[in-house]
Amino acid sequence: MSERILVCVAWPYSDGSIHVGGVGGVYLPADIFARYHRAKGNEVLMVSGSDVHGTPITIKAEQEGKTPAQIAEFYHKEFLDTWRRLGITFDLFTNTDTLNHVQVVQDIFLKLLEKGYIFKDSVPQPYCPKCRRFLPDRYVEGTCPHCSDTGARGDQCDQCGKPLNASELIKPRCRQCGTTPEFRPTEHFFLKLSAFNERLLEWVKRQSHWRSNVINFTIRYLEDGLKDRAITRDIEWGVPIPIEGYEHKRIYVWFEAVIGYLSATKEWAKLTGNPEKWRDFWQKDCRSYYFLGKDNIAFHTIIWPAELMGYGGLNLPYDVPANEFMTIEGRKFSKSHNWGVWMPDYLDNYAPDPLRYLLSANMPETSDTDFSWREYVRRNNDELVATWGNLVNRVLTFTYKNFEGKVPSSTGTDEQSRQLDALSVEIFKDVDNYLSRCEFKQAISRAMSLAHEANRYLDAKAPWKVIKTDRQAAANSLYTAISIISALKTMLYPFLPFTSQKLHEYLGCEGKVEDSGWKINIPKPGQKLLEPKALFTKLDEEIIEKETRKLGH
Ligand code: MF3
Ligand code: ZN
Repeated sequence: MSERILVCVAWPYSDGSIHVGGVGGVYLPADIFARYHRAKGNEVLMVSGSDVHGTPITIKAEQEGKTPAQIAEFYHKEFLDTWRRLGITFDLFTNTDTLNHVQVVQDIFLKLLEKGYIFKDSVPQPYCPKCRRFLPDRYVEGTCPHCSDTGARGDQCDQCGKPLNASELIKPRCRQCGTTPEFRPTEHFFLKLSAFNERLLEWVKRQSHWRSNVINFTIRYLEDGLKDRAITRDIEWGVPIPIEGYEHKRIYVWFEAVIGYLSATKEWAKLTGNPEKWRDFWQKDCRSYYFLGKDNIAFHTIIWPAELMGYGGLNLPYDVPANEFMTIEGRKFSKSHNWGVWMPDYLDNYAPDPLRYLLSANMPETSDTDFSWREYVRRNNDELVATWGNLVNRVLTFTYKNFEGKVPSSTGTDEQSRQLDALSVEIFKDVDNYLSRCEFKQAISRAMSLAHEANRYLDAKAPWKVIKTDRQAAANSLYTAISIISALKTMLYPFLPFTSQKLHEYLGCEGKVEDSGWKINIPKPGQKLLEPKALFTKLDEEIIEKETRKLGH
């Protein structure tokens, strides 16, 4: 029976290029999961978009002498290009500046206001006397009251992941000029998070299928007690407050960006000519999965669910498989120090699947992991080229040459072949299980173990020798090897979609891998093969130095 799966992917701020850590921690796991469920024949909707509001964008615009809209548009276009080249298959990748989004946000705002979950209050906000302006969110920095990190900002501490109110910062300073701000009263709207504390805690405690880092973080946070949070700002860039007299204030970016999951579903439904279809994903039986990095957990397990509970009648998140971080060559990623690997640059120079492979094998699921070029080259050369690519290459090239470019017929099987087939069935089940639980690292390593076994089988059977004396025996073992390759094509497809599709064609299959289903497709004897070429290319060790030299400059 087909299931409905909503794949919600954290919305990147459109203030800079997509970075390798974001791919490994957020976009790639989401894409693997979506492709897996599509191949299973489930009804999948994968949505996200550019997060164009908030101080990350206005700060970047000020730095570049551009308008926030110009910055947002530039990176939004670049993101679309990155997704296409990297094979991240959103059903809709929109942005938070659409009329549709603004309407959905304002509707939620007004409904929560009407229900008393949003209230007005006058609060002291940091104001820089030198810059002569209020300092919302990232414009004020200081020491975190929870973990004492000195780089905390007015909205959040990235070090410990806790959302903050600017007034909680110890030793606050203006980001632009370093001046200690004064606190001046200003009127704002607040989300009454305290009203949801109990319900959230009760709900979260029931989510035993969540990753332990996510559930523990959330429970600890809720047990500390939720504070009501200002959800408007003294800023001109953002979603307008739908009430007269607040023309110079805007809705806080985090309050509205999370609503994007819902508004994007509505936009997608309209675009596909079935405007009511959004209800299938939000009001009917549907599991929603939220893919994000650990710095975004609280917004997805507390703030967004609180908004949903307050509004009523919409599905709460089913799972939030948040990832830890990826360091780059042993150091923390840093935009300002150019310590990172950016996707437009990567994709100008290399193929997408080797990176997808490395990031899957090294996904920061349970702890931080490291990206290094040495490991990139090693995994490409030793695992993709020497194990998986080599298996495909020797089987298909030899078969193509010696069996008239067709899948040979098998006349029987032996113990060793039966064992390999049985292993393939077992591994397929394991991979299916791991994928369904968002354990991507386990899934890919289990699949690769079958490629290893198949290589050993082939070495033992040596059809290239046997063919000289017993053509049928060679055909039999090649047939088994082709069956294994066909199974691996499907298992590896969510991870390596480009090369799996090529292989699909070499095997003489039509259409897309995804359409041939999530199952072991046994090749038909006599089926015409396409002349195979190598799926992967060996990389020169030289690129390690060349690429690491780019870091930090
Ligand atoms: N833009 C945020 C970030 O890059 C993530 C927003 S996720 C959303 O950290 F759900 F709120 F959109
Ligand atoms: Zn902190």
